[in-house]
Amino acid sequence: MDMNPLETRLKTLTLRSPLLTASGTSGSSDEILALRGARGILRALGAFVSKGVTIEPRKGNPEVRVIETRGGLLNSIGLQNNGVRTFMRDELPKLLAYRLPVIVNISAASIEEFAALTERLTSLDTDRSIAGLEINVSCPNIAAGGAVFGSNPVMVRKVVRAVRKQARRDMLAIVKLSPNVANIVEPARAAIEGGADALSMINTLRGAAIDIGTRRFALGNRIGGLSGPAIKPVGLYMVAECFRSIPACRDGRVPIIGIGGVACWEDALEYVMAGAAAVAIGTAWFADPHVFVRIRDGLRRYCREHSASLAELRGCAHA
Ligand SMILES: Cc1cc2nc3c(=O)[nH]c(=O)nc-3n(C[C@H](O)[C@H](O)[C@H](O)COP(=O)(O)O)c2cc1C
Repeated sequence: MDMNPLETRLKTLTLRSPLLTASGTSGSSDEILALRGARGILRALGAFVSKGVTIEPRKGNPEVRVIETRGGLLNSIGLQNNGVRTFMRDELPKLLAYRLPVIVNISAASIEEFAALTERLTSLDTDRSIAGLEINVSCPNIAAGGAVFGSNPVMVRKVVRAVRKQARRDMLAIVKLSPNVANIVEPARAAIEGGADALSMINTLRGAAIDIGTRRFALGNRIGGLSGPAIKPVGLYMVAECFRSIPACRDGRVPIIGIGGVACWEDALEYVMAGAAAVAIGTAWFADPHVFVRIRDGLRRYCREHSASLAELRGCAHA
């Protein structure tokens, strides 16, 4: 078997590895190059997903923004970023030096703003270098009084449609779903109706912590998003539900990128067996920048030992 058992297809995009960076955890510039073994880390990746980009620069939330919890991490960064113009001028060229497909994670506060942001990204991408957009529907919709887009299937469909209309045809539209919903299949179906090429799940789970010393909330923003090992069973469940319930996910027309608490190759393989075509890693990477290399090597070893490709293993738990 000379073929690469880890080759992964996300619609029109063929990746040499199923591993992606989870948005917001690996920067939006060439931060990885400063790490020891940077080239090896980049070789273990299939694509790079940027930190969330918004139309205007954002300062983010007040400190404290990140705290550790048992088995997880609670963050309220508040989408701090330099805005789309600076991203396109200064940051994207550095990301392209990674020689990986670049997926840009986008956030906005209204449907109109999502459309304007996509239009701006597309028109500034004169070299057609952006491989895909990851639409973060976990952000609050200011026009609708701050309710999160992702919890309303009608809004999800409208956002995806608006982005799809402005994006270049060959840009993948990946919809990043929020787990803060009663039934993940509803926003997933709505995203597909809106024109999603792929789904990624999950974003962080809403959470809070109290500092009993100060008798105040531990995060400056009071509430934050929980990530890390604590959320893996939730992410896995949601991937499995979408794979099981949505024919387009099952037959690969709308592949799923599994996210949430992956820290070792066994975790990544669980996501694949639940139905994910690719896996993104965030929190684990803060603890160990070589996690991608370890996971890629572990998956490759498993595939060789079992004479199977990841594509063949996808969703096998449902048989
Ligand atoms: C510090 C931090 C920043 C994040 N920023 C973003 C973001 O800008 N956009 C987004 O869609 N998700 C963001 N996320 C969510 C992650 O991409 C991922 O969905 C989540 O952390 C679960 O994966 P993990 O358990 O591997 O970290 C962020 C997560 C963390 C921890």
